[in-house]
Amino acid sequence: MKHFLTLADWSADELWRLIESAVELKAQWKAGGNPPLLKDKLLAMIFQKPSLRTRVSFEVAMKHLGGDAIMLGPDEIGLGKRESIADVARVLSGYVQGIMARVFDHAHVEQLAAWAGVPVINGLSDAEHPCQAMGDVLTIYERFGSVQGLRVAYIGDGNNVAVSLAQACAHFGMHFVIASPQGYELPQTAVAQFHELAARSEEGATLTLLNDPNEAVKNASVIYTDTWVSMGQEAETAARVAIMQPYQVNTALVRQAAPEAIVMHCLPAHRGHEITDDVADSPYSAIFPQAENRLHAQKAILVKLMS
Ligand code: CP
Ligand code: NVA
Repeated sequence: MKHFLTLADWSADELWRLIESAVELKAQWKAGGNPPLLKDKLLAMIFQKPSLRTRVSFEVAMKHLGGDAIMLGPDEIGLGKRESIADVARVLSGYVQGIMARVFDHAHVEQLAAWAGVPVINGLSDAEHPCQAMGDVLTIYERFGSVQGLRVAYIGDGNNVAVSLAQACAHFGMHFVIASPQGYELPQTAVAQFHELAARSEEGATLTLLNDPNEAVKNASVIYTDTWVSMGQEAETAARVAIMQPYQVNTALVRQAAPEAIVMHCLPAHRGHEITDDVADSPYSAIFPQAENRLHAQKAILVKLMS
């Protein structure tokens, strides 16, 4: 049985087929509706952290495909507290055909997958956000008509979103350039993994690790940023906001990129911190189509795993 915990578990070919399926499901939806490929199927959605996009897009995706979803918020099941993860996984597997989980510790989605009799999808962990990266690749593909060879500049914290985006770039032959302050770089494990995935896919992906955001955006087709303070890091807010100031994606920075460059952000945005209003609301901002594409990309994942 296949799970969707990390893009590293999937081959570039498999992931590209998911992007193609997302394109098709999106066109179908816009033309009147999707066939009921997940008729009567149920997805349990476990959330240990807040969410707008992930929660709504997964539920809407299930409904568009003829199925439904059940929300299990942080106060409901007490994953690993009221009941062990192994027990939660086995109980849910008797009721539903898929589990999507947003957790703190990445090992917890792995434990769910180890014990579940149904596919498990990572809806964000402290380490990775693979569904986000699939929506992002779909967005980049729609804007540029292809993805291979594009320069993607990620500015700011080397967090879960950066890790999954880097994996996607490695798979699909994009040049991933990340500019982060010292101490907030892409984790070493992700750097090693980038080179493994890039070698495996042979699509020509490269990785550049920088501290200077101005250098990172030169010739970039995509400028990407995310919050400086991820969920669970609230106690570090003051220190993080202070050190990340030079990493703000503002008009001056965007002007140094390629003329056709788009700006992306997984959202929620902290306007005035990692991104300014004039950039987020500019014609080159892709953030709202990007948010919508979570829906279409996840439909492809759900159909692949649950139909
Ligand atoms: N981008 C994203 O995952 O948004 P939510 O936290 O609202 O789900
Ligand atoms: N890096 C952010 C992403 C939110 C979608 C976080 O983990 O909070």
